[in-house]
Amino acid sequence: MRKSITTFFIILASATFFSTQSCKHSHDEVPIIESRYSTETEDGTSVKCDPDSVYFKNSILPLITSSCAYSGCHDATSQKDGVILDTYKNIISTGDIKPGDPGNSELYEVIVESDPDKIMPPPPNSALTSEQINLIQKWIQQGAKNNECSDCDSVDVKYSKQVSSILGTSCVTCHNATSASAGVKLHDYASVKNYVDNGKLNGSINHLTGYKSMPPTGMLDACNLAIIKKWIDEGAQNN
Ligand code: HEC
Repeated sequence: MRKSITTFFIILASATFFSTQSCKHSHDEVPIIESRYSTETEDGTSVKCDPDSVYFKNSILPLITSSCAYSGCHDATSQKDGVILDTYKNIISTGDIKPGDPGNSELYEVIVESDPDKIMPPPPNSALTSEQINLIQKWIQQGAKNNECSDCDSVDVKYSKQVSSILGTSCVTCHNATSASAGVKLHDYASVKNYVDNGKLNGSINHLTGYKSMPPTGMLDACNLAIIKKWIDEGAQNN
């Protein structure tokens, strides 16, 4: 099986060698697509952005896909030299990333390569900037995690600034003046305040026992929950 995959890529690599020289990798070894790392590191949780950390989904994936995963190069169809750089799993396995060790990670080695025959992206494409290279290096040093962050502004919270729009997006379709599921209206401040005071807003969005879990399709994200909590804690003012 492994042998036939290798053969396949040797054929693929030679076949594409003459057609798209600009994407040529001059490595002798043809890597085999396999998942060396399982999905263990894919925690999928979103944390507040820390300026000292590099986040895969925020910075690395967009950078790598736009610089490498295009047609003729390392997208899923072209997969030059068996290298596909379109998802976390493929980047780790086919980019041969060694978490914590950029110097031994193939993907890092080729972007800092000085030999014009080996550097990626290959000429005439321009090399990555030192800022982009540093970002990838730091991400690998920090463990090459499948992480992401979000800049949640739950500091300066106001009804008019965030709360009304969160409820407007996630609740008001079913809870408005003319169509109020369970008689619950959440389309204006006075209506919302009733459900703050009887505890049902808090109970429903945090899926507390004894309350209907809202919205019915799933939970609001952590940022929106934090915003509403802060607004309630500060007195649920009409501000
Ligand atoms: C898709 C329609 C829909 C959306 C969106 C929705 N709800 Fe509801 N909601 C309902 C229905 C239907 C009920 C009645 C459920 C039942 O009685 O089983 C309900 C009931 C409630 C209740 C009454 C719960 C109780 O314990 O009496 C509250 C409070 C509530 N929703 C708040 C919200 C909030 C807050 C949101 C947005 C974060 C939201 N809902 C989004 C349909 C919706």
